[in-house]
Amino acid sequence: MDISITDQLLSTTRAVRRRLDLERPVEREVVLECLRLAVQAPTAGNQQSWRWLVLDEPDVRAKVADLYTRRTLPVIERRYPRLNNPQTKRVYDSARYLATVLPRVPVLIVPCVAGRPEGPPVTHPAAFYGSIFPAIWNLQLALRSRGLGSVLTTPFETEVERQYADILQLPRTMTPIALIPVAYTIGDQFKPAERPPIETITRWNHWSDAD
Ligand SMILES: Cc1cc2nc3c(=O)[nH]c(=O)nc-3n(C[C@H](O)[C@H](O)[C@H](O)COP(=O)(O)O)c2cc1C
Repeated sequence: MDISITDQLLSTTRAVRRRLDLERPVEREVVLECLRLAVQAPTAGNQQSWRWLVLDEPDVRAKVADLYTRRTLPVIERRYPRLNNPQTKRVYDSARYLATVLPRVPVLIVPCVAGRPEGPPVTHPAAFYGSIFPAIWNLQLALRSRGLGSVLTTPFETEVERQYADILQLPRTMTPIALIPVAYTIGDQFKPAERPPIETITRWNHWSDAD
């Protein structure tokens, strides 16, 4: 295995919003190729509960984007004045941009879980949600490796889940987890993010024994 390539992929797969190419179409075949890699991810008890709804028709994207924007922009505007951290401010600026261009993003992917978090059968939340997020991340890595960018967004709050479900004709037995805008990226150079030194957030054997 070529560690330098995998390390570069793992350390430079960023949340891409501003650098999504809104003009270049995304082929269905490349989406399927990446989803094939996504479902190599683990699931609790091998339940393989992932399902994928891919939106590439302008009408559906426009309806979903309209709901997303109406919900998201007021939240951003409300929280923005209280933000102090410049990195978080940049994320909010970029999220505001995304909300305004969302209908023009060529593909939106909605990863779903077949089932409901409340059951039946009753599953531990870690097992329910933990069976989709590894696949989502595999998908984002596969997209990045092929020159596409994506960003994980989580708009399906309880109050609006049904409104999205009606647009998407999702059965009540299906839980939408995320909305992932996908497009080719403008340029392909992305940097590793600033993160705390790993030693400061890692302890060995017992939490209280750290020196
Ligand atoms: C569970 C989860 C939910 C997220 N929800 C949103 C979201 O609703 N909107 C958004 O623009 N980004 C969302 N993000 C992306 C984060 O904002 C992003 O990962 C973070 O700013 C760090 O940027 P980076 O991924 O480029 O390091 C989410 C990420 C995760 C893991």
